[in-house]
Amino acid sequence: MSGIQGKVIAVTGASSGIGEATATHLAEKGARLVLGARREDRLNAVVDGITAKGGTAVGVFVDVSRREDLQRLTDTALDQYGRLDVLVSNAGTMAVSPFDDLRQDDWDAMVSTHVTGLLNGIGAALPVFRRQRFGHFVNVGSTAAYVVKTPQAVYAATKTAVKVLTEGLRQESGPDLRVTLVSPGLTDTEGVGKGASPEAAAAMAQQRDEIAMPPSAVASAIGYAIEQPEGVDVSEIVVRPTVQA
Ligand SMILES: NC(=O)c1ccc[n+]([C@@H]2O[C@H](COP(=O)([O-])OP(=O)(O)OC[C@H]3O[C@@H](n4cnc5c(N)ncnc54)[C@H](OP(=O)(O)O)[C@@H]3O)[C@@H](O)[C@H]2O)c1
Repeated sequence: MSGIQGKVIAVTGASSGIGEATATHLAEKGARLVLGARREDRLNAVVDGITAKGGTAVGVFVDVSRREDLQRLTDTALDQYGRLDVLVSNAGTMAVSPFDDLRQDDWDAMVSTHVTGLLNGIGAALPVFRRQRFGHFVNVGSTAAYVVKTPQAVYAATKTAVKVLTEGLRQESGPDLRVTLVSPGLTDTEGVGKGASPEAAAAMAQQRDEIAMPPSAVASAIGYAIEQPEGVDVSEIVVRPTVQA
């Protein structure tokens, strides 16, 4: 199946920002969506917004650090729609800080969300994709994996892991599956600097307000990768504001 119309697409981190914009964009193009996140009120609002416009979406409580939650996400796709065409692994946290602050809970959250979370998605979706003999992983990285800026080392390291895992998965995926890395630059979302140390949060918020691109730019990039004909793998997209160094 090529295009987006009718595809069953699961998106993690769909309660705000890039995930929400991606869900909305894909719904407008006729995808059937299974949306995951932890803030159920926000997630339900996204689902309601899509269904109010005639789209098809269901929300599932998902903490990507827990294997069983990713299993529930993929099971819901199979139960509701009988297939899973795409898993967009987008959940993320940008709680950056200098090492000297020793915000080890934040380091753990970045590792468990970006690295363990991505692996949990692969663990849940890969057997489904193999059985179906089709499926598409779309993993959201970051330009932080290309240009390391302080105090973002832990964030950059985990996004580098996303990049490396995606390339390894692509090489092992074989002729039936597709694997895409989408690496955004600074994007105008509430997540920029959320939970970061005060100085880092203020600097990131200021930069966001000055130069960030809208989340719809990332949503379009994800849609572009998904809508390619079967057998065409868009392996990597880096999308950033023109003014971003
Ligand atoms: N904005 C940027 O400048 C930028 C640039 C490059 C890359 N990115 C990446 O883009 C992705 C989306 O970020 P965003 O900018 O759209 O920020 P956002 O609005 O804060 O979105 C992050 C999403 O991830 C979810 N999430 C966080 N931890 C989770 C967990 N453990 N389990 C499930 N869901 C979780 C959040 O939902 P809940 O809190 O409801 O669970 C939320 O829906 C992230 O991977 C981020 O690293 C962003």
